[in-house]
Amino acid sequence: MSIEQANCIRRFMRVCSDGWQKGWHEANGGNLSYRMDGEDIAVCKPYLSVRTPWISVGVEAPGVGGELFIVTGAGKYMRKVEVDLSDNIGIVEMNAAGNAYRVVWGFDDSGRPTSEFETHLLIHEVCSKLSDGDDRVVYHAHTPNITALTTAFVLDSRVLSRVLWKSTSECIIAAPEGVGLLPFTQPASNELAEKTAALMESFRAVAWAGHGVIACSQTFDDTFGLIDTLEKAAYIYIMARAMRGGEEAANLLSDDNLRTICASYGLEPNEDFLS
Ligand code: 13P
Ligand code: ZN
Repeated sequence: MSIEQANCIRRFMRVCSDGWQKGWHEANGGNLSYRMDGEDIAVCKPYLSVRTPWISVGVEAPGVGGELFIVTGAGKYMRKVEVDLSDNIGIVEMNAAGNAYRVVWGFDDSGRPTSEFETHLLIHEVCSKLSDGDDRVVYHAHTPNITALTTAFVLDSRVLSRVLWKSTSECIIAAPEGVGLLPFTQPASNELAEKTAALMESFRAVAWAGHGVIACSQTFDDTFGLIDTLEKAAYIYIMARAMRGGEEAANLLSDDNLRTICASYGLEPNEDFLS
């Protein structure tokens, strides 16, 4: 066996390839991280060795201190992950304080974790706490339709959530709490990390205005599926308005429709976002 055959690595690679196929990862756009569980670490252990000294990160995330993460590299292309795995991704171990990492596999050619690693760490910390450790995947994608919505409208979380929910029945099922909206914030900054993590206390997905979307959930499938559903809803909304020459769509789902959908699946929608 090689490390490429470990389930955690195979599933990680699949998200990178699927996101590329979706058109969400131009050049080095987007990034992905996964907090490994005990079984993942046991399977990968024969391939792990300390390859760098401790390297500081710009935030403190003691809630994920000591954890191991698979993570895409800064400036690396999602398209290339399946072509040259150990050049484009790596495995890092966090120190106990959660403010430094060391590389234990991958990042050949002196690579390092994504420039958004601080954001990923703070989101992992928040979501892991809220889910009793179940949430393990953080995925950032440059989804064109969500980004177009945030560019075309002055949006807040409520407006964005309602537009998405009302465009297709699956959206409120995927995100009954709604979707957070963060006004444009400098990429790779501590401000982006802290403000996104604060929104993640309430939402599992946050749109970054003029940039893309980031989400956290339990599995690779859950997280990819959440972003895929939101992006499709944004596409349908844009298409529906375009078909009416830019006017609001005539048959958006009503608030009663949304409550009915939630009733079918035993979901509790965010009532603050319903009328
Ligand atoms: P990285 O290449 O550092 O992951 O940056 C990509 C990106 O999408 C930044 O927002
Ligand atoms: Zn980005």
